Amino acid sequence: MIMTTFKKDLPLFARFWLWLGRLLGKTLLVLLCIGLLGWALATAWFAWQHRGPVSALEQIPDGEAAMTQDVIQTAVRIVDQHRESTRYLRDAHAKAHGCVKAEVQVLPDLATELRQGVFSEPGKTWQATMRLSNGNAYPQFDSIRDARGMAIKLLDVPGKQLLSDQQRRGEQDFVMFSHPNFFVSDVAEYRQNVAAQADGKKVMAFFPGWDPRTWQVRHLFIALATLSPPPPSPTQTTYFSVSPYKFGEANAKFRVMPDPANCPTYALPAQNQKLPNFLRNALNQQLSTDRVPACFVLQIQRQDAGKYMPIEDTSVEWKESDAPFQTVARINVPAQDFDTPALNLQCDNQSFNPWFGVEAHRPIGGINRLRKAVYEAVSDYRHSRNAEQ
Ligand code: HEM
Repeated sequence: MIMTTFKKDLPLFARFWLWLGRLLGKTLLVLLCIGLLGWALATAWFAWQHRGPVSALEQIPDGEAAMTQDVIQTAVRIVDQHRESTRYLRDAHAKAHGCVKAEVQVLPDLATELRQGVFSEPGKTWQATMRLSNGNAYPQFDSIRDARGMAIKLLDVPGKQLLSDQQRRGEQDFVMFSHPNFFVSDVAEYRQNVAAQADGKKVMAFFPGWDPRTWQVRHLFIALATLSPPPPSPTQTTYFSVSPYKFGEANAKFRVMPDPANCPTYALPAQNQKLPNFLRNALNQQLSTDRVPACFVLQIQRQDAGKYMPIEDTSVEWKESDAPFQTVARINVPAQDFDTPALNLQCDNQSFNPWFGVEAHRPIGGINRLRKAVYEAVSDYRHSRNAEQ
């Protein structure tokens, strides 16, 4: 009796599983087709939106000044949150691996159209200071994923400085980090994102509301890519301006790339990456212990406004296939002893600012306009608090 029932039920049971299998298969196929269609549509939409020509001029949206004031409040809040015992640090790039002396030499045979601003005189050598840093607002272990910063200050630069109250500086700064694009497009998005981050949000800072049109998935991926594992040494990675600048009459981005071919051959001994400051150790090993200089090239990428190389959106990397980088100067970091308490304090008390410079290299675009107010406010705040101690 039991056997009969089993035999009778088996086909029904099997039929049910076959039916379920077919249903699941079809559902998966439909979902796959919808996914592929969505991906194709999103790619087409992205390509349509991100096509040239673009404006070669700045376009300042309404309300930018008020948004900038909000960002300053948040930045000062972050400085307060991250102060280390009694000392107030930078709001970003708080931890230095060191400040080193450098020489920036304009290419002796520089093409005429590239002779702009501080690169006007072929063969000229500028004395400079270079600060190498981690991006985080807190001086954390070097092994933690992060952006790495490089700030270069050319000294004794003649001519009118961009900031009217900084005329005595005579400087040209180049402020960069180790990723080609930024995790926000403009001031409005930066204001929303950084306020969310100061409130402890991380991934959710990129999802400001229920409306999917406000979700910044692409920008979240840029942020994740920016936070990369450490290089073996701060001398072994490329640093990008990210945002655009004037380059004489043109608009340009710049980058600084290691150039070992122009330095004595050197193999950095393996560093213990578990040590909190191993990037400082690596720099010290090369420059101070082994007395070997480090070499870089400084390169310019000029905007072709016929291509999608926007000024007002820092989340867009200017493609090298649209405009190549061209070397304008070589940077030599000579062997030196930089890691002393006095020099490290001096390094901490320096201020680098993309707006410390001359008209030929004026920072442009919303994120740079924002930086004009914020760097000054944060630098003044930390200096005044540290002076009170
Ligand atoms: C375009 C992308 C950016 C790059 C490449 C960049 C890079 C850097 C670097 C390398 C430093 C350290 C400078 C030093 O060594 O002293 C720095 C500092 C700083 N950054 Fe940025 N940054 C960018 C965008 C921003 C934005 C959008 C803000 C906020 C509005 C900001 C706020 C700051 C502040 C407040 C400091 C510390 C200034 C001081 O106290 O001296 N940065 N940045």
